[in-house]
Formats: sequence, structure tokens, C-alpha cells
Amino acid sequence: MSQSRKVAVVTGASSGIGQAMAKQLAAHHYDLVLIARRQDRLEALAAEINRIHGVDTFVLAGDVTQTSFIESIVPLCKSRFGRIDLLFQAAGYGVFKRATQFSYAEIVAMFEVNTFAIMYLSQLVALEMLDQGSGQIVMVASSAGKLSTIASSVYSATKAAVIAYADTLRLELRPAGIEVIVVNPGPVVTEFFDRDANSKAYFKTIEGFALDVDVLTKRIMANLLSHCKFKREVNAPLVLELLARLNSIFPTISDILKLNLFNLKENSDETTV
Ligand SMILES: NC(=O)c1ccc[n+]([C@@H]2O[C@H](COP(=O)([O-])OP(=O)(O)OC[C@H]3O[C@@H](n4cnc5c(N)ncnc54)[C@H](OP(=O)(O)O)[C@@H]3O)[C@@H](O)[C@H]2O)c1
Repeated sequence: MSQSRKVAVVTGASSGIGQAMAKQLAAHHYDLVLIARRQDRLEALAAEINRIHGVDTFVLAGDVTQTSFIESIVPLCKSRFGRIDLLFQAAGYGVFKRATQFSYAEIVAMFEVNTFAIMYLSQLVALEMLDQGSGQIVMVASSAGKLSTIASSVYSATKAAVIAYADTLRLELRPAGIEVIVVNPGPVVTEFFDRDANSKAYFKTIEGFALDVDVLTKRIMANLLSHCKFKREVNAPLVLELLARLNSIFPTISDILKLNLFNLKENSDETTV
């Protein structure tokens, strides 16, 4: 590793937003720790990044729901690179169906990946960054964490919890010079919607205004590079950010719209909802 290069840890690096962000970071000369379960994908990404950008990469294949795996991340990164400048957490997934149709195991499983893993890894990396006196912690939540619609109950709850957690962590770490930023995207073109027939059908209805993953990650990168002390969130697209704000000011009107105009996940359902 070059002493002048920063080090970024990226979860969810085997696909979608995490993968595109890893490429952005490599293009900005970060050495990278790539995390997800699919080792073959991570190895292929590492090879591509090495070839194109010449930065150092370290593949750490594992499941973020395993606490022993999470606890191994900081020591392994430290022994390989000596420090962690940026933690970008994109590992996550969504299942969309009515709240009454979830088993308890499904609820726990989604919280384990989308919420608990983020909280625990953020905590362990924050301790390291406090020693360093600097760092950036990024959590990918979702516009669904601010604007829950029919069939998004559990997913929205996992993301709202991330936003609330970050709101406190940001306050606690800011005096130490550590930034905490939450990314809340609307629909993005990734494998996220390939999970089941319901998600695929839903994606077809919103495909026209889904975000391009490279456009989104370029925007995130620009925000990270600006090191703006008071940056709290990256929200995209603007229309969803505005709707989320209106939702909190006019919740009753918002409910009427969600029951009719924005009931897309249910209307698109071919199977279960
Ligand atoms: N796409 C959207 O429309 C959208 C919108 C708003 C927010 N988001 C959020 O953005 C994040 C990234 O989603 P994406 O769109 O990039 O989806 P994606 O292409 O399906 O990527 C999800 C990533 O999470 C990893 N992952 C899932 N479970 C994991 C586990 N237990 N342990 C380790 N890694 C795990 C996957 O890797 P492996 O399968 O190899 O483990 C994959 O790299 C998610 O948190 C999602 O909720 C997505």
C-alpha cells in the first residue's frame, strides 16, 4: 500500500451500489477492502480495480450477519493497511409484501443485514477512527426509510432505524472530526429488484425514473470529497426528498396519496401481496 493513499472498507461490494462505489473510490486512489458473501465476484472486482486504477485491494468474503465476521473486519484491515479512512456500508436487501405476511424469522433476518450489522460495524470502525482522529462512516439507507408505502413495512423500518441511529452517531462523533453520512436513494438500477417476482414486477412500474448507479455513486463521491462538516445525508432523486418532507408536514394527505396514487408495490404484484 502507498502511505499516501486512503483506505476504504466497502460492504455489499459484490454488486450494485457497493460495487459501483468501490470503483469510484478506486478512481480516487483509495486502497480498498471489499466485503460481501460472493467471493468470486469480489475477486473479479479486485482484479478489475487493480488493473485499471493500480490501487491495493483486499477481499474479505463473509456474511455481515455473523458477529464473529464483523468483529474480524477491523483487525484484518488494520494488519493489512494500518488504518481505515472510510467505511461505506451498502450490504442489504428488501422483501416487499404486506406486514401481515411476514414470518418472525423474515423480519429478524432483514433487520440483521440492513440494520444490526450496520450498527455493530459502524461502532467497531468508529472506535478505530476515534483513535485516528478522523474518518467517514457512510450508511446506505433508503428513501423508504423516510417514506413508507404499502408492502414496504419491514424494509422501511430497517432503513428508518439506520437513519435514526446515524442521527445520534453523527452528533457523538462530530467533535472528534468523524463524519457520518446516510445515503437515501430512491429506486436504483441494480440486482436489488431481481430477488423475487414481486420485486421484478414492481421494478417494471418504476424503471423509467430509477437512478443510474454510476450517476448516484459519482454524486456520493463528490459529497465525500467535499468533507462538508454539516453534510448529513445524500438524498436522490430530489422529487422523493421533497415528497418525504411533505410526508412529515402533511401526513394525512400523504396517506391518501399512498393508498391511491403511490400504491405501486401492491398494484404491481403478480403473486403474494
Ligand atoms: N437498488 C435500489 O433501488 C435501492 C434503493 C434504496 C436503497 N438501496 C439499498 O442499497 C443497498 C445496496 O443495494 P443494491 O441496490 O446495490 O442491491 P444489490 O445489487 O442486490 O447489492 C446488495 C449487496 O449486499 C450484499 N449482501 C446482502 N446480504 C449480505 C450479507 N448477509 N452479508 C454480506 N453482504 C451481503 C450482496 O452481496 P452478496 O450477495 O455477495 O453477499 C450485494 O453485494 C442496500 O442496502 C439497499 O437496501 C437500494
